[in-house]
Amino acid sequence: QLQTRMEILQDEFKYFYGCSVIEHLKARIKKPESIIKKMENKNYELTYRNLVEQVNDIAGLRIICPLKDDIFSVVDIIKGMPDINVLIEKDYVTNPKKSGYASYHLVVEVLVPVMKQVIPVKVELQIRTLAMDFWASLEHDLKYKSNNKISKKVSNELVKCAKMINKLDNQMITITKECK
Ligand code: GTP
Ligand code: MG
Repeated sequence: QLQTRMEILQDEFKYFYGCSVIEHLKARIKKPESIIKKMENKNYELTYRNLVEQVNDIAGLRIICPLKDDIFSVVDIIKGMPDINVLIEKDYVTNPKKSGYASYHLVVEVLVPVMKQVIPVKVELQIRTLAMDFWASLEHDLKYKSNNKISKKVSNELVKCAKMINKLDNQMITITKECK
């Protein structure tokens, strides 16, 4: 549902302004085995109630923006949607994580009609630039390949890369403004 809404938004921007605040979208539903693994890692009893209350990212939507500024525009648009309830908001763009990770996170609740009921469903949104996505994908793969334990040297290098990416994102904003 949310993916379609964001695709429409992407098209609207293209038609009206000839550009978009959204480069592309990636949606995924967490596999049952990954949900169980996550609940076990966090020591949650495997109950339906815990699944609904504790796991925020069963439905995940990643929104990739061309520029850093676009992230905040997308966040404002989502927050302005009257039928979407924002439950959690984390701005790792302004305040990146220690790892260097930068993205804007929202956990929202969408009402999904199922038969005669309406069920509130949580969706984890990760909003980031192309450059942030490049960093996060590689860093995730490196951590995954080394079973979540990367050396101090590698993690320092990754923090350095994240800082370079932030600089690059800022420079791209400046260049774009100069061309307008
Ligand atoms: P979980 O990590 O999912 O248990 O959630 P959390 O409560 O710690 O929330 P947070 O917003 O920190 O992370 C949610 C998701 O963001 C993660 O599942 C990852 O997909 C992504 N993420 C967070 N930190 C990092 C990071 O350091 N590197 C990468 N590559 N992704 C991260
Ligand atoms: Mg996750």
